[in-house]
Amino acid sequence: MAVERTLSIIKPDATNRNLTGKINAKFEDAGLRIVAQKRIQLTKAQAGEFYAVHKERPFYDELCEFMASAPVVVQVLEGEGAIAKNRDVMGATNPADAAPGTIRAEFAESVGENSVHGSDAPETAAVEIAYFFSGLELVG
Ligand code: CMP
Repeated sequence: MAVERTLSIIKPDATNRNLTGKINAKFEDAGLRIVAQKRIQLTKAQAGEFYAVHKERPFYDELCEFMASAPVVVQVLEGEGAIAKNRDVMGATNPADAAPGTIRAEFAESVGENSVHGSDAPETAAVEIAYFFSGLELVG
């Protein structure tokens, strides 16, 4: 399997509860390497641009408000099959459906405040990584 990179975001509900270390341990225990990471405060407009694909969804405004409500940790995870592996470690979008032991099963508060985001495909991973990081910031 090819080595991939994927964009991960630790969301405001998790940074508010001081869960960055516990969530990073889940990634590292699964063999994902954190090759870039920074804590930033998004504006609502920046969150809206990142989630533009969801613009027509009824939850879009609420999602953008939430993502700008407190700092997030944006990071690039690297490893074999990193995109699918990260999605396995995160668990289902709705924590009620997330498998035991996954980040969302353990930490997420609701479908909206679900602790983490992860890219869903190689094309989106490339776009999402470039939204937050320059090539110089990726240190494998
Ligand atoms: P994420 O993986 O970051 O991708 C889009 C986000 O939209 C998703 O996680 C949730 O945080 C949010 N989302 C998806 N469905 C709903 C919903 N029904 N209500 C509120 N937020 C949602």
